[in-house]
Amino acid sequence: MTFSTDALAGRVAVITGGGGGIGFGIAKAFVAAGAKVVIASRNQERLDTAATELRAMGGDVTTVQADVRNYDDVEGIVKTTLDTYGALDVMIANAAGNFVVPAAEMSPNAWKTVIDIDLNGTFYCARAAHGALKDSKFGGRFIAISTTRALEGWPGCAHAGAAKAGIMSLIRTLTGEWGKDGIRCNTIAPGAIGDTEGVKRIYEDAGRKANELSSIPLGEFGKTVDIANAAVFLCSDAGAYVAGADLVVDGGRNRGRASPIVNTPAK
Ligand code: HXC
Repeated sequence: MTFSTDALAGRVAVITGGGGGIGFGIAKAFVAAGAKVVIASRNQERLDTAATELRAMGGDVTTVQADVRNYDDVEGIVKTTLDTYGALDVMIANAAGNFVVPAAEMSPNAWKTVIDIDLNGTFYCARAAHGALKDSKFGGRFIAISTTRALEGWPGCAHAGAAKAGIMSLIRTLTGEWGKDGIRCNTIAPGAIGDTEGVKRIYEDAGRKANELSSIPLGEFGKTVDIANAAVFLCSDAGAYVAGADLVVDGGRNRGRASPIVNTPAK
């Protein structure tokens, strides 16, 4: 299931972490829906490979090497986008870092590293893009990536869970402050998305794949295109009245976890 080839026609979208995983999936869906895309990442080689594939689809693509922990780099993404296309209509703060380590063993620098990428990086993307999003003739869109684990607690990922909870709060605040500027701010909360670095690290490498699958009512990991379709919807005219939402795309995982009594006979 895909959207029409003009669902995002004329839009210019920045996707951080766009060289792979969910970010690259979003980039492909945006190109297919008619958007021009700017993909940013620390790794220029990954960006080049991704851009080649996107251009083969007919995409108008620009790459920017940047580390979202560095505000100057993020401003550079915005400047390159405006210099190249004259507009920036969508900012998707997708870049993230995460690894499993119990909180009692987590070094302060490990904590700081993930908070810097996930939470600070998301704020930097919003802050740097605000003026351009306000000028968007389509009504700007700012999307951040959260997770339902942020509010459940996330044993093994205290840093990422706290960062994502911070992101959810930030989006609520920005929704209140920036609605008057026509900017729709939302999060997408992916569940476990197969063949991504995150699922490999958090579940497969840690021997938790079967356990994780058993908690998903729909019975399978998601695909990057599932998240990409949610992003296309939010950024299209169809999503024009959606602001301040957490769009959960997780195969029902958060409900499966929340209602174990339904499947557990009383003793
Ligand atoms: C314990 C670790 C660690 C690990 C790094 N550290 N990996 N501690 N276990 N596996 C510690 C280091 O020892 C160091 O602390 C500090 O973290 C910084 O590590 P660096 O390697 O110097 O950082 P850097 O090179 O900047 O790499 C950033 C990174 C890396 C986050 C650590 O993993 C990365 O770049 N990842 C990007 C890709 C990624 O993570 N994708 C997954 C996103 S998935 P000390 O004290 O030694 O100096 C996601 C959601 C998943 O976010 C959802 C699943 C459902």
